[in-house]
Amino acid sequence: MTASNDNRELRVLGIETSCDETAAAVVLRRGPASGEILSNLVRSQLDEHAAFGGVVPEIAARAHVEVADVIIKQAMAEAGLGWADLDGVAATAGPGLLGGLLVGLTTAKAIAAARALPLVAVNHLEAHALTVGLSDALEPPYLLLLVSGGHTQLLAVSGVGAYRRLGTTLDDALGEAFDKTAKLLGLPYPGGPEVEIKARQGDETRFDLPRPMVGRAEPHFSFAGLKTALRRRAEALGAVTDQDIADLCASFQRAVCDVMIDRTACAMALYEAAPGGNTERRLVVAGGVAANRALRKGLETLCAERGFTLHVPPAALCTDNGAMIAWAGAERLARGLSDGLDFAARARWPLDPDAAPATGAGVKA
Ligand code: KG4
Ligand code: ZN
Repeated sequence: MTASNDNRELRVLGIETSCDETAAAVVLRRGPASGEILSNLVRSQLDEHAAFGGVVPEIAARAHVEVADVIIKQAMAEAGLGWADLDGVAATAGPGLLGGLLVGLTTAKAIAAARALPLVAVNHLEAHALTVGLSDALEPPYLLLLVSGGHTQLLAVSGVGAYRRLGTTLDDALGEAFDKTAKLLGLPYPGGPEVEIKARQGDETRFDLPRPMVGRAEPHFSFAGLKTALRRRAEALGAVTDQDIADLCASFQRAVCDVMIDRTACAMALYEAAPGGNTERRLVVAGGVAANRALRKGLETLCAERGFTLHVPPAALCTDNGAMIAWAGAERLARGLSDGLDFAARARWPLDPDAAPATGAGVKA
């Protein structure tokens, strides 16, 4: 299942509604690791959720219903295509918030049924994992660090549909840790970009925060303790000044980067030591937190030290979008893979169902 020899041109509509972005895109797949984005529309629900400091599932589902058809029509119009020009329809079928997933998947099923098009039920994590094929023309094998609001995983990607999970988080996802830190410090949602901006004015050495899991033999993560430590430091200050906030953000980001570099280095060693060995030393970073410049800089240094090349899709393709869903759909279609109209949305859908369970409070698949 590794490389595809199918050079058929495929035009695929992709629909993404798993979290708080309603997105639709049309992608043209020319051949293996050769694709072009014909349209890519994202309608964020930030305003709807901002007052709650996080995503509210019921509000998300309703907002998806309101805009999905408009966004899809717009994506088709911008691509300059009619339904008859499509070779398939792809929609995120999991993992994610069920209400939202149902909106996108049901819409895709309706289009597929009405136009006799193949349906591809896409795993959101697989879409993040394969995006680099579209953005950087990079085909597996590679080591993937997936860091988003819902997931933090290290995976060996050896082909489309072939993933081996090396590490995952035992509690919060990295983006979630950024968002919770921001909320605690009174910064707006989503917190990642806010914390990064504040951190630029801060002293990263002022607060000595823990580096959870550093040095462990398996590249798992844990961020709950770090978040608690930060809260204690903030509470101990009493009234916090702007400088305190900047220093807390900088110290948090430093701790996070140290953890990520140590855990990724650990995964690199496992990746290279895998049966048969992985001679292609390539690290791909995907998901919303890949936009963080401090993290990227740390990973650049690590990759240079370990002889890996670093590949990060542009920010617009790192955060949730329809193009990555369309591309993953096209990659599956090119290999003769499609799904029945009875495919049910899945709140949980691990990329590597055979991975040994990681143990800890609130473990995520
Ligand atoms: O991949 P994504 O768009 O959605 C999910 O699938 O979760 O990731 C969103 C997450 C949020 O938690 C957001 O705070 C985080 O990515 N994020 C960042 C940055 N930009 C977005 N975290 C740290 N630094 C950033 N610059
Ligand atoms: Zn995502």
